This record gives sequence, structure tokens and C-alpha cells, in this order.
Amino acid sequence: MKYSKYNVAIIGSGISGLFLANKLAQNKEFSDGIVIITKGELFSGSSSLAQGGIVSVIPEINIKDSIESHIKDTIDAGCGLNNISVVQYVSKQSSKVTQDLINFGVKFDENDKHQLNFTLEGAHSYPRILHAQGDSTGRVIEEALCKQLEKANNVDLYDNTMALELLVDDDNSIKGVIVYNWQNDTYEVIYTSNIVIATGGIGQIYKNTTNPIESTADGIALAFKAGAEVKDMEFVQFHPTALYVKNKKTSPLVSESVRGEGAKLVNKNGEYFAKNYHYLADLAPRDVVARAIRQEMINTKSEFVNLDISQIGIEKFKKRFPTITKLCEENNISLESGLIPVVPCEHYFMGGIKTDLSSKTSINNLYAIGECASTGLHGANRLASNSLLECAVFADSLADELIHTHIAPPKKHGAKVMNIIDKYINNEIDSCDEIEKIQKLFDKLKDTMSKNVGIVRNQTSLDLANKKIDEINFALSELNASNSRLKYELQNAICVAKLIINAAISRKDSIGAHFRDDSPKKERQNQERKGKYETILVK
Ligand code: FAD
Ligand code: SIN
Repeated sequence: MKYSKYNVAIIGSGISGLFLANKLAQNKEFSDGIVIITKGELFSGSSSLAQGGIVSVIPEINIKDSIESHIKDTIDAGCGLNNISVVQYVSKQSSKVTQDLINFGVKFDENDKHQLNFTLEGAHSYPRILHAQGDSTGRVIEEALCKQLEKANNVDLYDNTMALELLVDDDNSIKGVIVYNWQNDTYEVIYTSNIVIATGGIGQIYKNTTNPIESTADGIALAFKAGAEVKDMEFVQFHPTALYVKNKKTSPLVSESVRGEGAKLVNKNGEYFAKNYHYLADLAPRDVVARAIRQEMINTKSEFVNLDISQIGIEKFKKRFPTITKLCEENNISLESGLIPVVPCEHYFMGGIKTDLSSKTSINNLYAIGECASTGLHGANRLASNSLLECAVFADSLADELIHTHIAPPKKHGAKVMNIIDKYINNEIDSCDEIEKIQKLFDKLKDTMSKNVGIVRNQTSLDLANKKIDEINFALSELNASNSRLKYELQNAICVAKLIINAAISRKDSIGAHFRDDSPKKERQNQERKGKYETILVK
């Protein structure tokens, strides 16, 4: 067992983790340094896959837009379950973090007049989304943040390293984290008094997801097992348009900004259908469009619907959406047909570790930022491109908080922490057996979640899911398999799957992304969110 100490440990190297590391690296006072722990390579996570862009509310140059309008759209899309103070804060900070990203070297796309080029996505009243190299926004931002970080001399990187367990003492304060290098089968205790969880989403607990392999809900499970509060766990966002590729495991995204630029959904019979479900038609909130597509697929007995891109024009499409063009080529989908087959799939998690405006969790000096945190920004359904914004805003404010807190690594810890460390000292370090059996259990979990806790759920499906996840948990404990990344991930996935199912059982009504077909409110739900913002103001 190795031991090390740092001022701050950041778990995750997506946009939230890297943005924070860059801000902290500018401060010279962290004499014990900062460590970034990441399960994959530096570029792992959802961030580098982000296509559509980042919300940027800059009325000074985007004169039709306003902070008030962005707040209203966020709350209407979130069905009013949002925390209004958080929405106001994030919206107001958006022009600051846009400028920070530009200072870090991000070059957002411009129009012919060399002005920032704002695009439109679902449920936004105005085009207010900045993008880079067309639909490669996430990659461009990550590259800039990584390049900037090369200049720092007080940041260490532990890649291919998985955070396994938080060290929380009897006084409810953080003392460190146990990490596992899954390539070398080695464990290490990192002592630190400040831990930031930035582990991203949960997509891999579903069979079809736009998320990468790292998104197995680890950070949420770690925090919950250590005693942190979680919230909004029933709210899983399904993106309406992942590329449909028969018999393939991956589900690449076809950005909502394709509809923002004029594409329209069309069913198997060639009928445009979105207007039948919501007055905003193809640009309705994401949960509404995902349900509409699912319904059309059932009605027409089809495994997908199509995006008609003919109104954009093929040449413009290729230039504006180079990533999606490449994805189509790789999957033998001809853009010349004017139709791209799409299907809804898991995309984003509104729930997660409960945090306040300072990114504090209910454990002292444990913070959470990015997709794993539930800040209250999104309510019951996230507005498109608000996630990258949330990552940057909370990373930025947390950097200020940590620079002022500036706590040295712990000098001692109690019996509780010692017991956790002992558990890992005694761990057998050998190569893992039973991998295939663990993988089968993981596949069963994904299947269970997709079939029973998907776009539409009800009491019967949720009870069945609960029973099946318990069976998977029992089967895993019976396996007596040696330790491996996959085993640890499955344990985390089981923990979070149970939290989602139980939250979904508790909420009897349909709202936003939580849609129960046994709920009395199901028919009215699409219309009800209009005016949610005004209702909140009156309250
Ligand atoms: P991530 O970028 O997911 O990074 C998580 C990090 O944590 C990774 O480095 C991972 O390796 C690491 N990690 C995980 N578990 C562990 C562990 N146990 N130990 C150590 N490290 C761990 N949002 C927008 O606003 N605009 C968009 O255009 C947009 N497009 C998207 C397109 C796609 C295909 C996807 C999947 C998402 C998109 N989103 C978009 C959502 C957005 O990209 C994510 O919510 C956001 O990038 C999450 O950033 P993050 O820093 O929280 O986590
Ligand atoms: C997209 O480009 O459709 C994804 C945007 C998002 O998830 O916010």
C-alpha cells in the first residue's frame, strides 16, 4: 500500500474537474499540491463528446437574449422543480465563465462578421448556445483546459486510477480517499482534507446510452456510501436523438442543435409528428420529444424514427456538423438520403449528490461538481446545453471557496478511517477471475434498468426492477470474485440503480423526465410546465 498527501484531490478529469484544477493551479499557496484522479485517460468522460455547445447568456452582444429569459426557459423545461436561486446564479455567471474559457484558449465558432455564433436547441427562446469546430465543442474545451494545465507545476495526474472509498472520520469530515490503479492492481491512500467529486454521469447503468464507459455512477455511490445526501434520483434524462445503428452497443449522439438548425422528426410513414405532442414541436423540452418518439415507434411498429435534414442542405450540414457527419459515415448512413435514423437513449442525470451554492455536500469538506452533483439547476428535466455551463460555473466558484479555505492535509485520523484503510491493506492483489460472470451480471442490470426504469415506468416495472437488482447483488456477493475495476463498478451501479428505483417508487406523479403511465397526471403533463416560472415568482 502506498501513501501520499495533497491539499486538494479532484476525482474526475471532465470539464468540471479540469476547469477547477486550472483555477486552483493559478494559486501558488497549495504547497502540498493538487491531484487529479481519473479512471481513464485525461480525456475520459462525457465532456469531450459534447456536441451542441454551452449556454452563454450575453445580452450585450446577443441583444435579443436576456438573463431573465434564460432563467424562465430553464425553469419551464425543469417543470418548476428547480432551485430558483441556483438558476439565477448560474445564469448570471454564464458570461464570466464564457470569458474564462476564452482566456483558457477556447475558440468558439464565429459568423462571417467575426461575431460569436449562437445556435438554438430545444426549449430555448433564443439562440444562445456557443459551439466550437461545429459540433466538437466538448473536445475543443477539454483540449484547451489540458493545454493550459501543462503550465501548472503543482498538479499531479493519476490516470487509469479509480477512486474506491472515501475516508470520512467520526466527526463527519474528510480525511482522504482510497484509490486503485486498475492496470497495476495497486492501492493507495491519498490523505487530504478537501475532496471534490467530479465523476460525471450514470449512463452505463442503462443498456443504451450516449455516455462513455467511465460513466458508471461511481462518485454518487462513493458519496452515498460515505453518508452524503443524494437528491432527485428519479430524474434520468433520455436524449431524443441518438443514432440508430442496428445490433450495435454504442449510441452516438445526434445533437439537438441539428433540430435547432432546422431538421425535423419524421416517422416511418413519412409523417412529421412533433407538433402533435407539444406547441414547440421538434424543439419542445427533451423529455417531451423523447416520449413522442417512443410513442411514434410503438404506433408505427418501428425501431427508430428519422431526422429529416433536407431543410438544412447537405453541404451546410457537413460543414456545421463534422462530428455527426463522420459518425454517419462510420455507420454506413448516407446523408444524401436526407434522413438520419434516430432513437431515444439515456443521456444525462439530473439527480446526484446534494450540493449547495458552494458545492458543499452534507460531509464536511467533501464537494461535488458537474453531472454527479445535484445543484437544483435542472429540476425535473435539464434544458439543453446547461450542463457544460453548470460544470464551469460551479468549478469556478468552488475554486474561490477552496483558495479561501486552504486546509492542509490531515495530520491524524480516528479509528473509523483506520478500519477502512485496514480493509484494503489486507486485500488480495491478484488478477481477477470471474470477469465474464461479472459482465453478465452487469448486462442484466443494464437490461433491467432500460426495460423497467426507462422513459416510461410504473409501480409494477419498478417493483420488478427492485427485485432483479437485489438478485444481481446477491449473485455478485456469491461469486467470491477477486477485485477488479468491473467488480467495483458493478457494486457502484447496483447502489445507484437501487437509489433511482426507490426514488421513482416514492414519486407517484409524473413530472418532467419521471413519467409514470400509472400516474393520474400523465395526460396533462406536457402542457403544465408552461408558466412554471411565473408560478414560482408569485410564490
Ligand atoms: P465527465 O466529463 O463525464 O467526466 C467524469 C470524469 O470522472 C472522467 O474523467 C472519468 O474517467 C472520471 N471518473 C468516473 N468515475 C471515477 C472514479 N471512480 N475514479 C476516478 N475517476 C472517475 N452538455 C452540454 O451542456 N452541452 C452539450 O453539447 C452536451 N453534449 C453532450 C454529448 C454527449 C455525447 C454526452 C454524453 C453528454 C453531453 N452533454 C452536453 C452533457 C455534458 O457533456 C456532461 O454532463 C458534462 O460533460 C459532464 O462533465 P463532468 O466533468 O461532470 O463529467
Ligand atoms: C446535444 O448536442 O444535443 C446535447 C446537448 C446537451 O446534452 O445539453
